[in-house]
Amino acid sequence: MEILIPVAAGIEAAAKREIERLGYGHAPAVRGRIALRGGWEEIARLNVCLRAGERVLLLVGTFYADTFDALFEGVYALPWEEFFTPHVNIRIDGKSYRSKLAALKASGGVVKKAILTRLKEKLRARSFDERGERAIVGFSVYENVVQITLDTSGEGLHKRGYRVLTGEAPLRETTAAAIVEDSFYRRDKPFADPFCGSGTIPIEAVLYARNIAPGKARNFDFTAWKCVPAGVLDRVKRAAREEEYGGEIAPVFASDLSPEAISAAKQHAARAGVEKDIRFRVADMRDFTANERFGVLISNPPYGARLKGDLASLYRDFAQMFRRLPDWSAYFISAYEGAERAFGRADKRRILFNADLKCSLLAYFGKKPGAKQ
Ligand SMILES: C[S@@+](CC[C@H](N)C(=O)[O-])C[C@H]1O[C@@H](n2cnc3c(N)ncnc32)[C@H](O)[C@@H]1O
Repeated sequence: MEILIPVAAGIEAAAKREIERLGYGHAPAVRGRIALRGGWEEIARLNVCLRAGERVLLLVGTFYADTFDALFEGVYALPWEEFFTPHVNIRIDGKSYRSKLAALKASGGVVKKAILTRLKEKLRARSFDERGERAIVGFSVYENVVQITLDTSGEGLHKRGYRVLTGEAPLRETTAAAIVEDSFYRRDKPFADPFCGSGTIPIEAVLYARNIAPGKARNFDFTAWKCVPAGVLDRVKRAAREEEYGGEIAPVFASDLSPEAISAAKQHAARAGVEKDIRFRVADMRDFTANERFGVLISNPPYGARLKGDLASLYRDFAQMFRRLPDWSAYFISAYEGAERAFGRADKRRILFNADLKCSLLAYFGKKPGAKQ
């Protein structure tokens, strides 16, 4: 089967590296989707283990269509009865670029009608009650070529299940994981997030350091479909648990000025099963120090309008604090346009999107252990 993994702009490289590390070789990315091949075992494993991918889609069919009739025929020709019962609850998610089928709502209606018509005929069903398994069917039309996908994840993969409280401008879990993946952070290096908010970055860092699968505690839509072998998700989760690292890791520091944020972050870390690994503290970033060398600071400082006047001085103070950390590297993501001017010239910069907000990821490299002073 063909599998497509949508990734947010700017994090394709991290997602590709992850996919390679999971043993699926080099997978090309086309228009924000990484493509690879596999069966239900691979679909289960990607859903459970991927940190930076947004969803795992199954490509059900590709065909040319520039009219509603051609769209209906193309969708009707696909083997929907192998997946669904007459209780299926279909939702449609459509996109169209440079194509004649540009009316998303009307095209979505045609896609749904074609699926139900086929199911009615093949399953000899008299009625559909939509009370059963959920199926998010995607149709994406590019230059009149239609791709029909099934969303095997259901809820997006950023929903790990640990974040239940809302903080101030939380970072998407998949974006946090991609920044950790792309950084110098490894489990033997100290780690800090001095603006940790609801805890997303330190939690993702520990999940990475301990090789804990981010999807190990949640369910995915595909498990309710008829053709999926029984027990595949449980088998994959069990195998992932055996790969977890239970030894020592270097200290992970997480602090924030807001006691409410730290309370939420502690609850989230507990739900993720990593609270023992993170040293939480209510503190001003300006007071952060660490004696450990060669650490990695990954953070998401404030950028909101509320702080506008003070942002430049906050980022300058942040830079001053960072200079006191011996040989550390820093990575931070921010939508504040003056961040680099205030913090200093970055060794590397990249545009990333946190959900739909355009941000910069700025990287400052410290010394490597063993490098000449
Ligand atoms: C963009 S939010 C971080 C969101 C976080 N990454 C998450 O996913 O929840 C910025 C955080 O910086 C904190 N903050 C603002 N000024 C601070 C300061 N001087 N020292 C420490 N934290 C501060 C705010 O309380 C807020 O939680």
